[in-house]
Amino acid sequence: MKNVLVITYSQTGQLADVTAQVVAPLRAAGHFVHQEVLQPVTPFPWPWPIVQFVDAMPECVQEDPPPLKPMTIPTDVDFDLVILSYQVWYLSPALPITAFMQSAEARRLLAGKPIVTLVACRNMWLAAHDAMKRMITSVGGKLRDHVVLVDQGHALATFVTTPRWVLTGKRDRWLGLPPAGVAPAEVRRASRFGHALVDALATDAEQQEAPMLTGLQAVAVNPRLAISERAVRRAFGVWSRLIRSFGQRGDWQRRPILLVFALYLITMILTVVPVSLLLQWLLAPLLRPRLERMRQQLELPSGSQVFNLAKYEH
Ligand SMILES: Cc1cc2nc3c(=O)[nH]c(=O)nc-3n(C[C@H](O)[C@H](O)[C@H](O)COP(=O)(O)O)c2cc1C
Repeated sequence: MKNVLVITYSQTGQLADVTAQVVAPLRAAGHFVHQEVLQPVTPFPWPWPIVQFVDAMPECVQEDPPPLKPMTIPTDVDFDLVILSYQVWYLSPALPITAFMQSAEARRLLAGKPIVTLVACRNMWLAAHDAMKRMITSVGGKLRDHVVLVDQGHALATFVTTPRWVLTGKRDRWLGLPPAGVAPAEVRRASRFGHALVDALATDAEQQEAPMLTGLQAVAVNPRLAISERAVRRAFGVWSRLIRSFGQRGDWQRRPILLVFALYLITMILTVVPVSLLLQWLLAPLLRPRLERMRQQLELPSGSQVFNLAKYEH
């Protein structure tokens, strides 16, 4: 039997539910699982008041998290596999997981270990994944698989449904748009990753270099969104430095510049994103080969193939 460490944090319980689906088969197979739920010293609000929501951007992007409460991870257990389950905030790993990755515990627990990352977010996770890969490398971990569940509905619909959920707590069907968040059926289907990990652990596959979750539709990249995301990430880099030059998170001196940023954000969502999607749709025949290459690259290591679905969807 193996020892599995799961690091997680969830505001609404969505990511907790996804993580539970993955972990249940591991526990049922008799593996020891320690699940550490990260606890910021000062909890983040849910739903988010608008000012606090906007005020979180600079620290997310600049990876400057507030402290966590002490963790309860047993020090006498040598873990065979680590699952890092995190959500995306402002195209960056959410602040609690960033705080964990910067901790001395992360360095001690993750060095040399095979790691699976598990994400549930709206649908823009590529830049956060890059940041997480960098953080994993810096603590000496080895990323083996990457699983992503995204909010249901068209990308444009989630520009309305996810912010409505985050800012009001309401996630029901609204104005003909689908409910916010990951579809419940997709959350349940996440158990396939747990079943595949059980098989991998049984054959010591976690000690090999290859991914363990291929053929399970672990990720699906829309390269058109990837192009918009790169542009937005660059802009967030500039805005985050500018806003931080006015003060720290929570300081009133940041309020005026935050207001300008909020107006910019709304304008971007209403204009630049749809225009860029439209342009890419019009240019699709020309861009297709490049987008396809991008997609394959961005879906590494676990990929979007489906050849193992029948085996692991119970
Ligand atoms: C401050 C904040 C920023 C967010 N930014 C993004 C984002 O850039 N990309 C994305 O796909 N989802 C984003 N989301 C949605 C979250 O990734 C996640 O789906 C949602 O917060 C629910 O997660 P939880 O209930 O499991 O904590 C954001 C949420 C919050 C609260």
